[in-house]
Amino acid sequence: MRTEILKLDPERPDRGAIELAARIIRDGGLVAFPTETVYGLGADAINEAAVGRIFEVKGRPPDNPLIVHISRPEMLELIASRVDQRARLLMSHFWPGPLTLVLERKPGVAQMASAGLNTIAVRMPKNAVALELIEASRTPIAAPSANTSGRPSPTSPEHVACDLGGKIELILDSGTTTIGIESTVLDVTADPPAILRPGWITREMLAELIGPVEMAASAEKLRRSPGTRYRHYSPRARLVLIEAPASGSIDSVCGRMLERGPIGFIGHTRPRIEDPRLLSIILPDSPEDYARSIYAALRELDQRQPAAIVVEGINDAGHGAAVMDRLRRAASEIINAAQEN
Ligand code: TXA
Ligand code: MG
Repeated sequence: MRTEILKLDPERPDRGAIELAARIIRDGGLVAFPTETVYGLGADAINEAAVGRIFEVKGRPPDNPLIVHISRPEMLELIASRVDQRARLLMSHFWPGPLTLVLERKPGVAQMASAGLNTIAVRMPKNAVALELIEASRTPIAAPSANTSGRPSPTSPEHVACDLGGKIELILDSGTTTIGIESTVLDVTADPPAILRPGWITREMLAELIGPVEMAASAEKLRRSPGTRYRHYSPRARLVLIEAPASGSIDSVCGRMLERGPIGFIGHTRPRIEDPRLLSIILPDSPEDYARSIYAALRELDQRQPAAIVVEGINDAGHGAAVMDRLRRAASEIINAAQEN
């Protein structure tokens, strides 16, 4: 299959291109599209065969449910059966935006998207291309991140093409995404509501609006959100995460990894090692910059097939918590240098 790529203005996407993409969705095809977090791989959420193809092309385990994207709150009625006051309050504050709500599913619809669970994950993305595509398709769109299962999520159309080129009908290209990591997943069928995946909307932001919110404990999380069980976001190379660097720890870890061969480094402290086999990507020490650049940096270094990629962590608070969650799940080895010393 030839994958068509259409370039779009992120603010004012061309009507003709959106119509073409919507027709593909309505005909049961697959369209990758930008959101404010990462690129999604979309299909008509109500069309079981189309959603089945998402699992196929991503190589996604069939028990890992998908997020359904809507363009207006009223669309919820097509897929969710009970939406309480608390959920409505969250929607009015955070939608459109990077918050996914797990709600009770309307029986008989979107069974494939929900992987057979009686709940359904829904969000309204804050991105003109995504919203116009959903509107024009006149159906909710099921969309996981548009990467091969297990690989870092795509923040640019090039990442999508690299993983899924030749396997899907169309990629809508509006450049790189703004946030860079996936939405917060909040289970509002639980009391108190539970965060199944941390993201840009932090626990503090949610609690300020609706009161107590818990982080789902790992066993619970496994039961409720099958996706969290799988290894995620990983480059092919061994990822070594330095959680809390102590003085000299970056140099010593890089030195140790260089014994295995060429390595990559991502962090905000430049290693003092002079070695042409060390390729560094230096980012500002902020969760915003890490989130926006981390997946692209992992993909870029991975292309050079290094023996390892060493990543320097950031402060695990606020938005940093979501970044560190992704890094921990991608890591083969986690070093807490502050504790070791
Ligand atoms: O920002 C995002 O959320 C991106 C963009 C494209 O919207 N999408 C995304 O989808 O990250 P995906 O499929 O890569 O991650 C969906 C997560 C998985 O951890 C999955 O297990 C969880 O949401 N999930 C989906 N439906 C669920 C449900 N009914 N109950 C619990 N967890 C669910
Ligand atoms: Mg994903």
